[in-house]
Amino acid sequence: MELQSDRKEKYLFIETFGCQMNENDSERIIGLLRHLNYKVTDNPDMADMVILNTCSIRGKAEQKVYSALGRLKRLKSAKPGLIVGVGGCVAQQQGERLLRRVPHLDVVFGTHNIYRLPELVKEVEVRKTKVAATGFSDSIDEGSFEYIYTADWTEVSLPRVKASVTIMRGCDNFCSYCIVPYVRGRELSRKSDAVLQEINRLSENGIKEVMLVGQNVNSYGNDGGDISFPELLSRVCMVEGIKRVRFITSHPKDMSEELMELFGHEEKLCRHIHLPLQSGSNEILEKMKRGYTREDYMDRVFKLKRLYPDIGITTDIIVGFPGESDADFSETMASIKEIGYDNIFSFKYSSRPETLAASFDGQLPEQVKEERLAALQEVQTEITFNRNRDMIGKVTDILVEGKSKTAEVSAWTGINQLAGRTSCNRIVNLAADDGYIGKITSVRIESAFQNSLQASLGNNN
Ligand code: SAH
Ligand code: SF4
Ligand code: F3S
Repeated sequence: MELQSDRKEKYLFIETFGCQMNENDSERIIGLLRHLNYKVTDNPDMADMVILNTCSIRGKAEQKVYSALGRLKRLKSAKPGLIVGVGGCVAQQQGERLLRRVPHLDVVFGTHNIYRLPELVKEVEVRKTKVAATGFSDSIDEGSFEYIYTADWTEVSLPRVKASVTIMRGCDNFCSYCIVPYVRGRELSRKSDAVLQEINRLSENGIKEVMLVGQNVNSYGNDGGDISFPELLSRVCMVEGIKRVRFITSHPKDMSEELMELFGHEEKLCRHIHLPLQSGSNEILEKMKRGYTREDYMDRVFKLKRLYPDIGITTDIIVGFPGESDADFSETMASIKEIGYDNIFSFKYSSRPETLAASFDGQLPEQVKEERLAALQEVQTEITFNRNRDMIGKVTDILVEGKSKTAEVSAWTGINQLAGRTSCNRIVNLAADDGYIGKITSVRIESAFQNSLQASLGNNN
């Protein structure tokens, strides 16, 4: 059925919360809705449809969604035809309950139901009803899973220099604190052919860097896939036109020797690994069900550092896990000092529905968590700054991604500032003309700040 309104251009405002998986899903959502003539706007007041692609990883992330929905109430009363949708992990977790809780909401779609969005939106448009679709398709429902990646979407996202490519969904690890397995379902890898086809298409459209994303990319293919993760990486590195390859996230317990060696063979593979430690205490790691000890982790990290002294290593840390004593926390502090990460993402433990740890004894008061987080961040801030300073004077390659975020400074000084990243994932600003965008460029690091480096053009011209 062809709708009258389908011929008219409509506007979609989409806000994305959470991780790379959600960022990537938002691209699919945009691509699918383009077939219903929705074009992206960054002004919610102009929108005919607003979608929140949500995250539920911590209580605070979930709270943000309810605040955003609260703000949308005014917009909906001013424009009753506005369609309001919620997707992602909060949608998956709450399902139809969300429709009852938020009267101005029209569509709830779960993490396995993105492919159904056009049909759901049509239902709202035609029948003026509210709809929720949050069923899981844990069987190899390859059709719907793959469908969202093959939808024609490239035009909306391009031109730009880098793109992310989802290689698998879900997680089977069930770390005791984590909601992801409940809201994303079981691990399911895409076929390598499909992944490679997508990357070839990205390359044809001018993409220079791809980031392979999944909650635990190291176990890619373990669910009966055709090739392993290191094999996939090697094949991605062979794609013509792609200059850099990254991946996220690696689980320490599944990091193979083969993967470690690959950094030495594949020039396109960036020397950066995000390897979440979570805690430096073996007792806490066990309660978290992480599947490695502090010693296992250290072995791997120091091996990587020995093999590749320039590798960038980043991590995630949770403070205030149930039962975490001062001594446990000191072990985490000692670990981050010993490793000297380039950067860490640190969080206060947040109790999540359905997870094992929610029922553990020894839940800690907010104040203890806050103090530990502040102490940890203070130490890491200094480590990060020192690691940035160590780069001063070095000549290194960056891939120039576009205009720097400090573009206001450019307007003021008249100097064009571009930004890119080193192979080890540090942000570098560079005074140069736009012709460098999309190019691997040799630069000399001149100065260091907390979150970025300033460079001048090296000896490549
Ligand atoms: N799959 C990745 C991480 C996914 S979630 C991995 O296993 O490493 C990103 C980070 O959020 C986690 O690494 C963890 O540090 C943090 N996190 C997850 N659940 C949390 C919770 N309940 N409270 C606080 N932080 C949490
Ligand atoms: Fe969550 Fe653990 Fe899976 Fe990461 S590996 S998504 S922390 S359950
Ligand atoms: Fe958040 Fe869901 Fe990602 S809970 S971190 S958006 S998988």
